[in-house]
Amino acid sequence: MRLFVAVWPPPDVVDQLAAIERPARPGIRWTTEDQWHVTLRFLGEEEAERVKASLVQMRPTGRKPLVAQAGPALERLGPSILCVPVAGLDDLANAVQAATASLGARPDDRPFRGHLTIARARRGVNPRPPTPTPFSASWAVAEVTLVASALHPTGARYQVIERYPLGAS
Ligand code: 2AM
Repeated sequence: MRLFVAVWPPPDVVDQLAAIERPARPGIRWTTEDQWHVTLRFLGEEEAERVKASLVQMRPTGRKPLVAQAGPALERLGPSILCVPVAGLDDLANAVQAATASLGARPDDRPFRGHLTIARARRGVNPRPPTPTPFSASWAVAEVTLVASALHPTGARYQVIERYPLGAS
């Protein structure tokens, strides 16, 4: 399975994201509501059971619940992604990456940069909006999820296959 570990914004933040102006632009593909998440670790092809065992060993229930802070504006990440930056998840992402280091794709060498991807641009197209777009939201992060991703011509479809509550013990 193609897998990743992620945190999802709650419905009120999804509503706020949905209110961002997303005009049709050549070479820009806007992500859809059901896709908005913060990836803590992209694994790629891996057996779900192996990842589940590592995540249980990390003892998410023994970790403190967190507050994720999104904003203060849309920004570009790399050449092709338009995103909302998300702060507050670095320790959690580092713990997930350490726990799954020997699984799936090699962990990213670059430091973790929490973000919600809002649009992806075709090569050579700048995804930055023509005017600065402020965005600010925060939410209590109650769980980490293991997600399966199926690739489709119209965009990826994600399915949460396991949930790990934070601070449940
Ligand atoms: P992105 O939003 O910045 O593109 C599922 O594909 C999630 O895993 C996406 O949120 C994506 O981040 C992230 N991801 C990280 N590395 C990836 C990779 N090599 N291929 C696909 N997705 C990756």
